[in-house]
Amino acid sequence: MQNATKMGLNYTGAQMSPIDSEAMLKASQEVPPDVPGDERKLAVVRSEEVTRADSVGSVPLPGSVKGMLKTALNKLTGVSPEMLIDKLGERLAFERTGVRLYEALLAKASVVGVVDDTQLETLQRFRAEEAEHFQLVVAAMEKLGADPSAMTPCADVVGVTGMGVLQTISDPRTNLAQSLNALLTAELTDNAGWELLIELADTCGQPEIAESFYKALSQEQVHLQTVRSWLRDEIVRQV
Ligand SMILES: [Fe+2]
Repeated sequence: MQNATKMGLNYTGAQMSPIDSEAMLKASQEVPPDVPGDERKLAVVRSEEVTRADSVGSVPLPGSVKGMLKTALNKLTGVSPEMLIDKLGERLAFERTGVRLYEALLAKASVVGVVDDTQLETLQRFRAEEAEHFQLVVAAMEKLGADPSAMTPCADVVGVTGMGVLQTISDPRTNLAQSLNALLTAELTDNAGWELLIELADTCGQPEIAESFYKALSQEQVHLQTVRSWLRDEIVRQV
């Protein structure tokens, strides 16, 4: 991996071959698409599929008696606990991936030559905090009688969304700045996720759970500020 962005033999742009580019444009007007239809037909098909499609999984029924009682109690008081359990499952999945993101970045940062020991220690601390946040969510789910090992619908969706970030940082060719840029996507989402989860826990009558999440949110805010400033520093350094 080369850490600096360099000029090289990149043939992807139209300017590299004006004659071929002109021929390609001409062909796009003369040769019809393999599949008939246009964007309007695509929109119709998409709408039909959305109407027919099932949902992405379901929130599992509580496995414990305590959980069932809690769920029944919440239903009686007019609060549906499903969304809170679903979003707890989402945060749990996200924090687990967060540990993997920092592990992948640590491997890269340790060989790149521009990251000092203090920064490596900071990355290790962030990795450990992501793991702590994971355990925090496990404890909250167990308190509600929910099963933290179950994949909730939002956990599934957030796993798919995060695939690009994980692939970017895990790719041995991506440099430090490109990896930090991907990590910034994750940390921005993570901060918004914790804010929403705290509000949701309060709304669902779980102030103790909300209270237990404030430390995680403040640590995530530090992650975000740090990743943002390191990315800026690395870009400026290369310029
Ligand atoms: Fe984080």
